[in-house]
Amino acid sequence: MKQKRKLGQIVLAVLLVLGLVFTVVACGKTESNENVTGNEEVVYKVACEPTFPPFEYKDIETDEITGFDIDLIKAIAEESGLKVEIQGLGFDALTPALQAGTIDIIASGMTIDEERSKQVDFTEPYINSGLALAVAKTNETIKSEKDLQGTKVAVQIGTTGAKKANALKEAGIVKQVKTYDTIDVLMAELAKGTVDAVINDLPVTQEFIKKGHSEIKIVGEPMDSEQYGFAVAKGKTELLQKLNDGLEKVMESGKYAELLEKYALPENAWPK
Ligand code: ARG
Repeated sequence: MKQKRKLGQIVLAVLLVLGLVFTVVACGKTESNENVTGNEEVVYKVACEPTFPPFEYKDIETDEITGFDIDLIKAIAEESGLKVEIQGLGFDALTPALQAGTIDIIASGMTIDEERSKQVDFTEPYINSGLALAVAKTNETIKSEKDLQGTKVAVQIGTTGAKKANALKEAGIVKQVKTYDTIDVLMAELAKGTVDAVINDLPVTQEFIKKGHSEIKIVGEPMDSEQYGFAVAKGKTELLQKLNDGLEKVMESGKYAELLEKYALPENAWPK
């Protein structure tokens, strides 16, 4: 009996020691892992929906994502000593990816608005933009927003253009809103005549017209004015600060003006 108890005590002691050793090893491991990551260079994942020229699009020759936003975020990263890598995603997947932590920065012509500001943190505005209405060149009936009664309007999913079109539908004006994943497809649908109009960001629609979609035209006045910001996950104040500081420096250094010119964006697009 006594011996049995002794054996039990030994087993318990051995188990305790094993447990202790395991804990120490495990802790040591996390610590050293953390050290390793700390020493490794952090590469910030920047994502965009790349059918939005001149802000983000695939260069047909290199197949790489390029554009005003991409050059700008790279210039900001250089100023702030950050490493970035660019990837493409669906526009409606950007905010969830940021919130899930699978990406660090959205650089995708994203308009700063109240609703989104509850989900992400925006930098200072980096460009002025706004929505425009486009129709087929041969269309003589739709001359402005007022003529959208009973029409079929195409938009990109999750955008401010989609929001505007849905509001027009709820108001009983637009008959149907057709939602597409990419801007090239919605422009192609308009060119084919499967939809009556497109609501999209003005500089982007202008770029599509300039780069070959001559069967499309912009009608009426810009539908609103918007400003784009880069977005980070809520509470990433340090990263946000670095991006804002970098943006300020890029604007001061002349690099920003250079990029406006490179992408043929007007001087009044600069939110000075
Ligand atoms: N500015 C609009 C918005 O924020 C459209 C952005 C679309 N961007 C893109 N890369 N497709 O909703």
